[in-house]
Amino acid sequence: MVKEYKQHYLPLSRAQLVDRLQAALSAKRFAHVLRVEETAVKLAKRYGVDPEAASVAGLCHDYAKERSDADFIRVIKAKRLNPILLDYGNAIWHGQVGAELVKDELGVQNEDILNAIRVHTTGDAYLTPLAQVVYMADYIEPGRDFPGVETARRLTKQDLGLGVAYQTQATLAYLVKKGKPVYPQTLVTYNAWVPKYRKELK
Ligand SMILES: [Fe+2]
Ligand SMILES: [Fe+2]
Repeated sequence: MVKEYKQHYLPLSRAQLVDRLQAALSAKRFAHVLRVEETAVKLAKRYGVDPEAASVAGLCHDYAKERSDADFIRVIKAKRLNPILLDYGNAIWHGQVGAELVKDELGVQNEDILNAIRVHTTGDAYLTPLAQVVYMADYIEPGRDFPGVETARRLTKQDLGLGVAYQTQATLAYLVKKGKPVYPQTLVTYNAWVPKYRKELK
């Protein structure tokens, strides 16, 4: 657990940040965010990542999840983000666009933290260790219950990158099976991570 922040990644104490999240989220999602933080801090310690950065990123990763579509569209246009984003919805926006709201409204300036939030649902070809930690913590936090979650937990403990590959393969398989659209960056993540771990994923 990280109790007090010492790094000044944002102009809030941990307690103030937790209050802001509680105000922005439903009780259910707030509880998820706290579990992601806890899991991210554990993974950070295991893999040599700054636990405080993991705490901030874990807490903030879904900060914008309950915002209106209009809010996201306003930010995409005002900040001239990739217009392809307009073809997608909340599932992509709350990370890619939500990071901008975390920056502007919560005052997080650290680019590694903002980027970890940006890519937490899509991944990317290159993911910093912090981004890998947040991507996996969101997937395996103790409240998650889906077929394969135990495998995901085991592989993530064994090798963080292997966890990333496992999640990416499972997510893409799910989207394809359901006939849902695939955000191009998710395919980029797949190509960068899954073939590399092909043998271990069998
Ligand atoms: Fe999310
Ligand atoms: Fe999440």
